[in-house]
Amino acid sequence: MLVLGIETSCDETAAAVVSDAAPYICSNVVFSQIAEHRPYGGIVPEVAARAHLTHLDPVIERALAEAGIGFNDLDAVAATGGPGLIGGVIVGVTEAKAIALARGLPFVAVNHLEGHALSARLVAPVEFPFLLLLVSGGHCQLQIVEGIGRYRRLGTTIDDAAGEAFDKGAKLLGLGYPGGPAIERAATSGVAKRAPLPRPMVGREGCDFSFSGLKTALRLAVEKRAGALSAADQADLAASLQDSIVASLADRTANAIALFRERHPDGKTLVVAGGVAANTALRRRLTELAAKAGLDFVAPPLSLCTDNGAMIAWAGLERLKAGLADALDFAPRPRWPLDPNAVPVRGAGVKA
Ligand code: KG4
Ligand code: ZN
Repeated sequence: MLVLGIETSCDETAAAVVSDAAPYICSNVVFSQIAEHRPYGGIVPEVAARAHLTHLDPVIERALAEAGIGFNDLDAVAATGGPGLIGGVIVGVTEAKAIALARGLPFVAVNHLEGHALSARLVAPVEFPFLLLLVSGGHCQLQIVEGIGRYRRLGTTIDDAAGEAFDKGAKLLGLGYPGGPAIERAATSGVAKRAPLPRPMVGREGCDFSFSGLKTALRLAVEKRAGALSAADQADLAASLQDSIVASLADRTANAIALFRERHPDGKTLVVAGGVAANTALRRRLTELAAKAGLDFVAPPLSLCTDNGAMIAWAGLERLKAGLADALDFAPRPRWPLDPNAVPVRGAGVKA
């Protein structure tokens, strides 16, 4: 079985072909729009939508060529149906529907977050239920993944996502965009202790996140240096910011492990997914945490952490196998919680 997956919900135009037999990923083509957004210091939705329109056809062509197949060899088409920047989601969904209609193939609308959630199963035999820390530019959640389409939320952010904390922090430090990799790079030559920052939510009950206070603390630390931020200050503050974010994520995850244990004493695995899962300090910390709790730890390779088409194709394939194809009247969804029954956290806004 061969599935084409299309991802256009943010600033990556991506397409991939995956198969239900090893080695699973036949191709995985990602065109990053970073250069197109860099002049604005962040993602501009309108620019992203137009860029997806320009780049999607050639990206799909390359994905098919690298897999060594044509449209006729496909068994289904999957696309991110949301949540995300709606202009881009519409481009991807419309393209997928057109291919499905023209070729008489099943169409699957994939929740982008489910794409991240299931990406671990593309690289390791991870069984349900597993505990998931999903950390990306738009989302920051702890979920118990009980099955395809079956999620139980333990915590979410009440303001910024972890990736946003990296991105906004990098902007404040003048390190550019995208912030996560820039902070990680700068942090290697910094000493966190020289520029202490608060560790949000650490020691508190529950599994929710909050990063806006940390952002304010960083802004005040930058202002204190009154426009004379040396390279050493930049590095120290980057190291400190990364330390604080990682400490907060790890503390919340430790609480979630306890809840996961209570509910699923046989549960075996902690999974991290989403762009921030590319962070080495975070991976190291979670490895220790899982080992201490006697859980296996699975983090997808970096190329599957940040947005990509393979995770969408794979989630599409898993949904198809569960008999969950979608009709061609599926409407793209700017918001689409994984766990529709969860009570929104106060102040969580669109992050719910
Ligand atoms: O999953 P993703 O590619 O897109 C969304 O669905 O949001 O995640 C992008 C986020 C950005 O905020 C980026 O700064 C962050 O992931 N990121 C990182 C690293 N690489 C990407 N954050 C920390 N360390 C990294 N190495
Ligand atoms: Zn993502």
